[in-house]
Amino acid sequence: THKTRIFSGVQPTGNLHLGNYLGAIKRFVEMQADYECLYCVVDLHAITVFQDPDELTHNTREVTAAYIAAGIDPQQSTIFNQSQVSGHAELAWILNCVARIGWLNRMTQFKEKAGKDREKASAGLYIYPNLMAADVLLYHATHVPVGEDQKQHIELARDIAQKFNNDFAETIARAGYPGGFFPLPEPVIAGAATRVMSFRDGTKKMSKSDPSDLSRINMTDDEDTIAKKIRKAKTDPEPLPSEVDGLKERPEADNLVGIYAALAGTGKDAVLADFGGGEFSAFKKALVELATDKLTPIGDEMRRLLSDPVEIDRILADGAARAHNVADPILAKTKDIIGF
Ligand code: ADP
Ligand code: NA
Repeated sequence: THKTRIFSGVQPTGNLHLGNYLGAIKRFVEMQADYECLYCVVDLHAITVFQDPDELTHNTREVTAAYIAAGIDPQQSTIFNQSQVSGHAELAWILNCVARIGWLNRMTQFKEKAGKDREKASAGLYIYPNLMAADVLLYHATHVPVGEDQKQHIELARDIAQKFNNDFAETIARAGYPGGFFPLPEPVIAGAATRVMSFRDGTKKMSKSDPSDLSRINMTDDEDTIAKKIRKAKTDPEPLPSEVDGLKERPEADNLVGIYAALAGTGKDAVLADFGGGEFSAFKKALVELATDKLTPIGDEMRRLLSDPVEIDRILADGAARAHNVADPILAKTKDIIGF
């Protein structure tokens, strides 16, 4: 009964990388022709770890520029900044009271991000998954394109939606939603690069916070930098296999082949049909060319857009107004259902 609506977001925490592009932003672009899409710059999530205020302002504009430069049309899709739509924080509070502590304790990303000294992590980092559930449910979004690392959080959002629907079944039915008020959102994790790995260590995911700049390709890297990082990417001494099965136990090879496939819009099997049996050096040369071709125009366009911050802020304000139009009635209904 719920019509397909897409919601997803990226944190304005700097160092946007190839993983963010292939796992998220590129897929946002692909979905906008067929669905109603809301793409958020999730600054409330960013501050779960301290952010320098000036950098946060800049990084918010940078994610916005990346969205647009990658091909998201701000007329067609709603691009906005989370903190400008107060319903995210309001619904998050309500969901904090629905979610169970035991559920949060199972979240692997908190364990990774909090590190050894968990007591020193912000309370916000701990309840971050409830805010993420609110982000999606506030729009009655049904599908959430994300990288593999977010799967557990979307599952939690489903559990929270389900519990809310059960806890308030009576007033929900009275409000005219016999099938439940919040749709259970589905993660959309697809393509050849749902988990892009570090170029320095094939067992770690490519991430914004990796201290080694060689570990990731940034969306704003120039041609020479992209070429250098791919040339230096860790590999093993074997030639490429001719079948996808042969990539098992070879995380570095698997990663580079997946990246090539995702950038080319094909599958790993098609890439291996071309490069299987060959040396890495030849494959890397082709990957440099493909990555440069696909990424440098985006980086150039990001720089051009960022030279006019007033226009970016205007786009965000317009997006926030449109997001409000969708969110406000849903939040109002939520409050009715609770008895506020
Ligand atoms: P990060 O994880 O880099 O701090 P975000 O939490 O803002 O960035 O994630 C934005 C989107 O990028 C999410 O959908 C996430 O799953 C995706 N993503 C992040 N890192 C990777 C990666 N290495 N491979 C694939 N997708 C990724
Ligand atoms: Na992430």
